[in-house]
Amino acid sequence: MHLHVPFGDLKRQHDTIRAELDAAVTRVIDSGWYILGPEVCAFEEAFAAFCAARYCIGVANGTEALQLALTALGVGPGDEVITVANASVYQAITIMAVGARPVFVDVDERSHTMDPAALAAAITPRTRAIMPVHLYGRMADMDAIMAVADRYGIPVIEDCAQAHGATWRGKPAGSIGALGCFSFYPTKNLGALGDGGAITTNDETLAEKVRRLRQYGWERKYYTRDAGGLNSRLDELQAAILTVKLRHLPAWNARRRTIAGMYNDLLADTGLMLPEAPPEGDHVFHLYVIRTAERDAVQTHLREQGIGTDIHYPLPTHRQPVYAPFAPPGGLPTTERLAQEILSLPMFPELTDDEVRAVATAVRRATRGREG
Ligand SMILES: Cc1ncc(COP(=O)(O)O)c(C=O)c1O
Repeated sequence: MHLHVPFGDLKRQHDTIRAELDAAVTRVIDSGWYILGPEVCAFEEAFAAFCAARYCIGVANGTEALQLALTALGVGPGDEVITVANASVYQAITIMAVGARPVFVDVDERSHTMDPAALAAAITPRTRAIMPVHLYGRMADMDAIMAVADRYGIPVIEDCAQAHGATWRGKPAGSIGALGCFSFYPTKNLGALGDGGAITTNDETLAEKVRRLRQYGWERKYYTRDAGGLNSRLDELQAAILTVKLRHLPAWNARRRTIAGMYNDLLADTGLMLPEAPPEGDHVFHLYVIRTAERDAVQTHLREQGIGTDIHYPLPTHRQPVYAPFAPPGGLPTTERLAQEILSLPMFPELTDDEVRAVATAVRRATRGREG
């Protein structure tokens, strides 16, 4: 049997919950209220509980969540924010949007997340925030990162855009740093039917400030209190849809873990470097990323066999012309090597076991040229 397997297929997920989605959409249309209303409040409450955070503020997307978190912390011109360069450009965009300087540090080779030793070495008197990314659904080493942050009294903004439901020693993503920032882009583990985002925090003052900043910096209608505000609201339709989907998220994340376990078993003897779940917590496998020095050849073979793949991400941020002025002098050797070797295989909860086996068979053929 030869199956073609797409890299993603959102329609499958929505077909399984179509009646619930239709009911939510109809409810919002009938309500006559479309911006910042009861649906957003209900979702914020449910998502805060899911993240074990005291507060959740819905915003327009994950990028603006990061930007508003920086603004809420008072980060601005002359400040440095330490982040990684292997998670696309979102972090750098927002750091520059508030007038601060991105300081890129290397990642740990196994976890693909911020290297705590590199973080410690990059701290200066101008460091005003630390922005690790829980990449591919795996949390960064939050023990070591928080230890550095606490030593210097620097707040941590967790980029949780790929890690809804991931945990570190039982603590969910978005509940450990000063603020957690989520994206609900449709392909995320929790995705809207459009753009959406959220910020979580346990700090009441920060929560209130973010609430103002997402709506022009208004304290009340037409009266501005904070500079740096945006129009960055989650709308009622997306909130209602997200509330429906949040109920399914634990089962979807469990299925992602099952699929990752199947891939790990089926590819165990290939010599490929496979993702491992950290002993400290739950990996939610937003992406399943393998490593091979023959990446381009493997990707081409898979394409020829009808298997969709992608690369997250092909060009590190500090190597993109716009951000090159912020590249550290010696570059970021691990980040750069990983970008040459990583390959994302199909990973979404609705993949069938047959499809997972078909992908694994194709990968074995592509890597050995003779198996399968
Ligand atoms: C790690 C990471 N951070 C931030 C973002 C930005 O989110 P959005 O696309 O909702 O602006 C994304 C996804 O797009 C992401 O994967």
